Amino acid sequence: MDKKALIEEARLGRDNASAPFSKYKVGAALLTTDGRVYRGCNVENCTYALTVCAERVALLSAIAAGDRKFTAIAVVTQSENPASPCGPCRQLLWEYCGDIDVTIANLDGKAETMKLSELLPRPFSFSLED
Ligand code: THU
Repeated sequence: MDKKALIEEARLGRDNASAPFSKYKVGAALLTTDGRVYRGCNVENCTYALTVCAERVALLSAIAAGDRKFTAIAVVTQSENPASPCGPCRQLLWEYCGDIDVTIANLDGKAETMKLSELLPRPFSFSLED
């Protein structure tokens, strides 16, 4: 699947966003090495604190479905400048996806792609042998 198609998947994911508090809808689409796509959207909550980002919804859906190998994620927001994933999402994506391509896009087709390692230099990780 090419970048444009993955952005479209993220845009479709965004349609299901539940963002009554921020009014800021986010969609994500996570691509597996064998071509499956998991969509996500942000889901907000009235305590605010329990809100889950679109990226995490996509990742946790993929893991729950048994997928563990990923190549790229696209994130779509309504903002004039495409928004990049928040810090906690970067950490979680790193742990489960490694150095995948991250494409951020807005609804007007403005898009940019970078490696996750550019967004999260020197990430926290550990192994039991350390
Ligand atoms: N949000 C995401 O879904 N992904 C991010 O990487 C950053 C923020 C959501 C959380 C909240 O529902 C809304 O955007 C405004 O912060």
